[in-house]
Amino acid sequence: MLQKYTKTAVSLHWLIAFLILIAFPLGLYMSDLTLSPLKLKLYAYHKWIGISVLGLFFVRILWRLFHRPPQLPKTFHAWEKSLSHGVHMLIYLLLLAVPLTGWLHSSAAGVSVVYLNLIHLPNLVSKNKELSDLLKEIHETLNWTLLALVGLHVLGALKHQLRDKINILSRMTY
Ligand code: HEM
Ligand code: HEM
Repeated sequence: MLQKYTKTAVSLHWLIAFLILIAFPLGLYMSDLTLSPLKLKLYAYHKWIGISVLGLFFVRILWRLFHRPPQLPKTFHAWEKSLSHGVHMLIYLLLLAVPLTGWLHSSAAGVSVVYLNLIHLPNLVSKNKELSDLLKEIHETLNWTLLALVGLHVLGALKHQLRDKINILSRMTY
């Protein structure tokens, strides 16, 4: 019997994955639109989803600091364990860096974030066009890096599931 993650970890995992899978294509779509009320609305939704990911990231990190992940099956090679651990750590880093660079970019562009139209978030830096352009590039690059890592992560899970016939997905389900 494989050891499982707790229900809290499973809920956080799928909620964050779901939000990212919406924020990512939304980000690509909205940036290509010409200026219109729809574009502004989608930018706001994108930022709300991204800030939610940032909040959930802190909840998840707190959970992670106080819970050891369940042990991997003994049949895993040492390199598989290290690779999976390394990819998880890099994904955690990007779950922080991606929303944070989005927020920094908005601040440098001089557009404050009003979360859910309710909470005025502080500007992290003052308005600066060059910095804003640079942060936009960084936000994009980190997003593509996150996508590549999630791709690797999913391929790894599918390899264990389908090729090695280890029901790894059951560790991340209720
Ligand atoms: C944006 C999407 C995703 C992100 C950000 C993400 C992130 C993560 C992270 C950080 C962990 C490590 C948990 C820990 O030990 O603290 C993890 C574990 C896991 N994820 Fe994902 N994940 C995503 C999508 C998926 C998808 C689509 C699948 C299904 C194929 C999946 C399957 C799993 C499984 C099975 C584990 C447990 C691995 C193990 O047994 O150690 N994830 N995920
Ligand atoms: C999980 C969180 C997030 C993901 C996955 C994400 C993803 C993306 C993607 C894929 C793009 C399009 C990049 C391109 O054109 O190649 C984008 C653009 C953008 N994101 Fe995010 N983002 C996130 C969080 C945030 C946050 C928290 C903010 C601000 C508070 C933000 C603000 C922006 C802005 C303003 C743009 C448009 C850049 C421009 O064209 O000027 N993002 N995002």
